[in-house]
Amino acid sequence: MNKFYLTTPIYYVNANPHLGHAFTTIVADVATRFHRMMGDDAVFITGTDEHGDKIVQAAEKAGKAPEVFTTEVSDSFRALWPKLETEPHAFMRTTDPAHIKEVQAFLQRVYDSGDIYFGEYGGHYCLGCERFYTEKELENGMCPQHLTKPEYISEKNYFFRMSKYADWLKDHIRNNPDFIRPERYRTEALALLESGELEDLCISRPKSRLTWGIELPFDKDYVCYVWFDALLTYISALGGVESEGFAKYWPSAQHLVAKDILKPHAIFWPTMLKAANLPIYNHLNVHGYWLVRDMKMSKSIGNVVSPLGMAEQYGIDAFRYFLLREMHFGNDASFSEDALVARLNADLANDLGNLYSRVLAMTAKFCGSRVPAPGAFTPLEEDLVRLADDSMRNFQMLLGSMRFSQGIEALWELVRGLNKYVDTAAPWALAKNGETERLHTVLYMLLECMRKIALHVWPIMPGKAERMLEQLGVPFDGAKANLQGEIGHFNGLVPGTEVAKNSNLFPRVELAAKEEAPAPAPVNEKKTPAPKAKEAAKATEAPATIQFEDFAKIDMRAGTVVECEPHPNADKLLRVLVDLGEEKPRQVLAGIAAYFAPQDLVGKQVVVVANLAPRAMRGLDSHGMILAVKTETGLELVQASGVVPNGSQVS
Ligand code: MSP
Repeated sequence: MNKFYLTTPIYYVNANPHLGHAFTTIVADVATRFHRMMGDDAVFITGTDEHGDKIVQAAEKAGKAPEVFTTEVSDSFRALWPKLETEPHAFMRTTDPAHIKEVQAFLQRVYDSGDIYFGEYGGHYCLGCERFYTEKELENGMCPQHLTKPEYISEKNYFFRMSKYADWLKDHIRNNPDFIRPERYRTEALALLESGELEDLCISRPKSRLTWGIELPFDKDYVCYVWFDALLTYISALGGVESEGFAKYWPSAQHLVAKDILKPHAIFWPTMLKAANLPIYNHLNVHGYWLVRDMKMSKSIGNVVSPLGMAEQYGIDAFRYFLLREMHFGNDASFSEDALVARLNADLANDLGNLYSRVLAMTAKFCGSRVPAPGAFTPLEEDLVRLADDSMRNFQMLLGSMRFSQGIEALWELVRGLNKYVDTAAPWALAKNGETERLHTVLYMLLECMRKIALHVWPIMPGKAERMLEQLGVPFDGAKANLQGEIGHFNGLVPGTEVAKNSNLFPRVELAAKEEAPAPAPVNEKKTPAPKAKEAAKATEAPATIQFEDFAKIDMRAGTVVECEPHPNADKLLRVLVDLGEEKPRQVLAGIAAYFAPQDLVGKQVVVVANLAPRAMRGLDSHGMILAVKTETGLELVQASGVVPNGSQVS
């Protein structure tokens, strides 16, 4: 039996799970279920990445010991998976003793082979990225990810001789076109390797700086670099290199990641495996990013989508369907509830749901809700058979190479084709004219193709697919069902089987009418409302007092201006970068250019309304509002009476 072994990234526990994590795990689940239905022994694993500076800081911020904090967040990931109908074969934490043992054995193995050495290194260390940057990689002296100035650190550390394997890896990527897919990420990985000398990788951190990590087996004064630790979860989750699980599944290994972590997977990981004399993985599958309002999701911007919220509101199956259908694997996609509702109504309610309800209603009316026995085929059925076979073949081929969106589209050609077939064959007219054999053939073909569709959508919408099969009176066992056998055969349904009298699988959904919140004006930017808006404003004029609950919704924080410049397209605005103690400084656009020279603001502390919805202003986005007091002579910034830590809340 062919094996299929897929991994998701091992998610950091510095934040709770969001749409992005949910997406990758759902994709892994869909791919695994699909492979199982193609006859493979298929499993996927996931887990949590719990060591390193970032986690220690998050624990400190939460006022908890790292052990307690990591367990809580890790548990929230673990608890989410069944709610999203995802069924990982294993869930591994990097703090699990079995994993720690595996990492230490691996380190020792590479150390013994001579590929780890001790040396002195000086570099620009970004705490957010937990890595050193070379001079060349910095942008204006800043970390390109976080826009913060890294700290120059010079210290003795252990290094992995990654450079030794650069040529081997280049050849491997060149000779195996689908090693990294889609193509654009293969090109990107090759470009990384070709852009200059591949440097050796610093794989330790001195305990004087960080203790929350796995101790190096050959030097107790150092812990292991988080990436060298986390990547090994892909092996420890199977039971380790000596285990049966590893022997069974590792030869079929594939990884699934988003583009943000291409480099560690495309470059660090294969060279690490090579150095340890272990076989490398077969495929690295790289998907794009879900953007919300065209931006990366971030707690500080306030555009984080909760997967559970969506699943509760629209149903987990519909949510899974939307995610898989909407994103072209490899590209970024935009998440919005409007797009979700539109997709559910068009594809699920109109196309699929409608097919089920009309065919089951006709079967009830004309055949007493029993599957009829088909008679001879006409060219209409022959066309339908061709369409169904092509559609299933394409679906199977496309899902096999992770092209989910196109695969679903291929299957929907059959769904839509069946709706057309109903209209053309017009069973109601056949019934009226007493053409019973023809009526039975048409209804049989419809029900049989509906069964095939239910089986094919099972990996994507397991719950709904099982209900669809139940409505067709078909017993289902996910472990035994096989899709390949469905092509070329149209006799799966047993005539006489009782089917449901009606079906309401995918009711239409309405988007709750959302009132567009008026965009707040930046400091001192006066806008004359249009007359209509003025009237409306009057009608809903704010009361003289507000409730405490309303006030409590405003998140005001103190921060330091780290950079400031005129807005390139608006004379009145300044583009201010404020350090609010977040991963990277906030960009706030403020209408204060008439009162402050940009350089005078740098280093000043300001108060920012931090949870204001983002707003585009002349081509740039503003993520908050700086508070100021207007006086007769000018403008004064609102500040705390003394210097306070960045990110402190105004309460
Ligand atoms: N801990 C590392 C991975 C180590 S793997 C050995 C890490 N963790 S993470 O929590 O930041 O997860 C990153 C992954 O989460 C992405 O590669 C992707 O799978 C998923 N996503 C997070 N945000 C995402 C989007 N906005 N869109 C799609 N997926 C994203 O990196």
